[in-house]
Amino acid sequence: MYPKIIAHRGASRLAPENTMPAFKIAHQQGAEGIETDVQLTKDNIPVLIHDERVKRTTNSVGYVKNFTFKELKQLDAGSWFSQKFVGTPITSLEEFLQWVYDKSLYLNLELKNNKIDYRDLEAIVYERIEHYQLLNSTTISSFNPNSLKRMREINNDIEVALLLSRKQKNLVRNAQEIGANAIHLNYRLLNHSIVKSLRQANMAIRIFTVNKQSHLNRCIAHGCDGVFTDVPGQALNYRRIYND
Ligand code: G3P
Ligand code: MG
Repeated sequence: MYPKIIAHRGASRLAPENTMPAFKIAHQQGAEGIETDVQLTKDNIPVLIHDERVKRTTNSVGYVKNFTFKELKQLDAGSWFSQKFVGTPITSLEEFLQWVYDKSLYLNLELKNNKIDYRDLEAIVYERIEHYQLLNSTTISSFNPNSLKRMREINNDIEVALLLSRKQKNLVRNAQEIGANAIHLNYRLLNHSIVKSLRQANMAIRIFTVNKQSHLNRCIAHGCDGVFTDVPGQALNYRRIYND
């Protein structure tokens, strides 16, 4: 099986990351999955944004956690990217799930709670996925192992993935202790021995961020289960011509 092509923050090279236009373009291009980053507003509403501060991707400053949902919704999350997207709002998890639930897309919700400890983020996100009956097609990931443990305590079946950007001793044992059943690995860490040990432990392996043809080819050769890419249309094309 070739790796699933998963749009990283949506089709984030073509539209502002983590916004509805980026998700819709990814879907139109044929992406098989969507990855997005989840944080909480001051009033505990889950929203899709990568950085803990709004500065890079909106027209305002400050921490996501210090805005109410209503305040955050006033921000422009598109003009930083290009004139074409002026006025694009930040997307809530609710809006995203409402759009996605009937589309047979694989979902990866990344809990951005490694720098800020969002209380109850796991329970809030879990409740919404369950509401939309998306438990079977969703992976919850995080760089924060404690968050994954909390998610595992809430539900024993949902797929949980540990994110990894640095080499880690005893990776398989650590992941098993958390109750993870997948690893999402920075491309730089991809090699034969890590793939072999994760395969032996029956863990799914997905790689971020794979935008180059040569990188995708390596992921295919290693038999990875998925790749996260900013350019899903292009990645699908590279995958199609892999054997030519
Ligand atoms: O989930 C894969 C990838 O998104 C992790 O890194 O910083 O792009 O959220 P980041
Ligand atoms: Mg992410």
